[in-house]
Amino acid sequence: MSASKTPEDLRLETRLARQLAATDPTYGAAAPPIYQTSTHTFANWDAVAHAFDDRANTAFYGRQLNPTVQLAQQTLAQLAGAESARLFGSGMAAISASLLASVSAGDHIVSANGVYGPAGRFMADWLPVKAGVTTTFVQSMDPAAFLAASTAKTRVIYLETPSSGLFELQDIAAIARLVKEAGKQHIIRIIIDNTWATPLKQQPLQLGADLEIHSASKYLGGHSDLIAGVVLGRAELIESLTNDEAELLGARAAPLDAWLLLRGLRTLPWRMQAHEENGLAVARWLEGHPKIRQVRHPGLPSHPQYALAQQQMSGSSSLFSFELDTDELDSIKRFFDSLMLFGRGVSWGGHESLIFAPAISALKEQTPERFRAMGLNLSDMRVSVGLEHPDDLIADLAQGLEQI
Ligand SMILES: Cc1ncc(COP(=O)(O)O)c(C=O)c1O
Repeated sequence: MSASKTPEDLRLETRLARQLAATDPTYGAAAPPIYQTSTHTFANWDAVAHAFDDRANTAFYGRQLNPTVQLAQQTLAQLAGAESARLFGSGMAAISASLLASVSAGDHIVSANGVYGPAGRFMADWLPVKAGVTTTFVQSMDPAAFLAASTAKTRVIYLETPSSGLFELQDIAAIARLVKEAGKQHIIRIIIDNTWATPLKQQPLQLGADLEIHSASKYLGGHSDLIAGVVLGRAELIESLTNDEAELLGARAAPLDAWLLLRGLRTLPWRMQAHEENGLAVARWLEGHPKIRQVRHPGLPSHPQYALAQQQMSGSSSLFSFELDTDELDSIKRFFDSLMLFGRGVSWGGHESLIFAPAISALKEQTPERFRAMGLNLSDMRVSVGLEHPDDLIADLAQGLEQI
């Protein structure tokens, strides 16, 4: 690097690939070390006392701060254009801590319909009973619905766009603008789960959100080998989350997971480019197949909110769903079981393609009527398109569709 170039001058791909803050002057290690330690020791009383006072920013005890975790946090903050980041032990830990940090007993949340199941359950079932906090779920495609559902007790608007079940979008900038214009100062926070798009395809903090959350277990890690979550936002919000919810609830990220996440982040821009291209290639092919009723992918012109997707995101990822043109369970199962290149299981955003049928889990938890009211069908298939060659994936889907 020339002497005149600072890391901030470099493009994101270069900064992620090189992670310059991780330079190791002692051994010149190309990969940063894993600080696999629970605690840190100091030379004397005064040094311990000083570290204790600043334990949110000093390596003192591993639940609060670990140097490998800190490096991952700094890299994630740069990636999202956020002042600060806090890593948690899972995406759900990041979501529950962010919500708990924003409400008190008696408060109210307005959430988009169809958010990630456990996040919805936390708001619908857990918070009212354990914390006296209620939530109204609204039709997420109408920005005005969020304001209309708010009360004087509303503290949080919770979004997930695109949603990971129905791939519905919310207009982040319009919702933020409406909140501001209405002068609703009691709505202290817009919190958004941005896992689907990653910060590379959507920057919610720039559109008016206050806290941006990711399940780092998906694209950010990218290799299906870690569970972690991150919250991004203004430094004072992240510091308060660090001192209170992270410290007291204790769902910290492990050093090894943070190290794996740093490894994944080095290739994120290139992986996302391949995920986007592969996902669209597979989705377009499915859309043209006579045995497919519909494809739900925000990057396809057939998506009902395609215009908003184009305006709000700079691209797409590779999680989407499609509906088989049959309602016969045996036929649906034959298709599902016949695939050779799609792992049958939950999660998404990894190097390998996965398939899941919402009916497998939702029909155990919901009545068929409620299942349909959620906008789901028996023959819905959700796929996460990985880094394989798209022609191989298409050939596999083609032979699967012959089973119907
Ligand atoms: C959209 C979304 N948000 C959050 C989560 C929760 O993340 P984690 O599994 O890391 O707790 C998931 C997990 O599948 C998800 O799909």
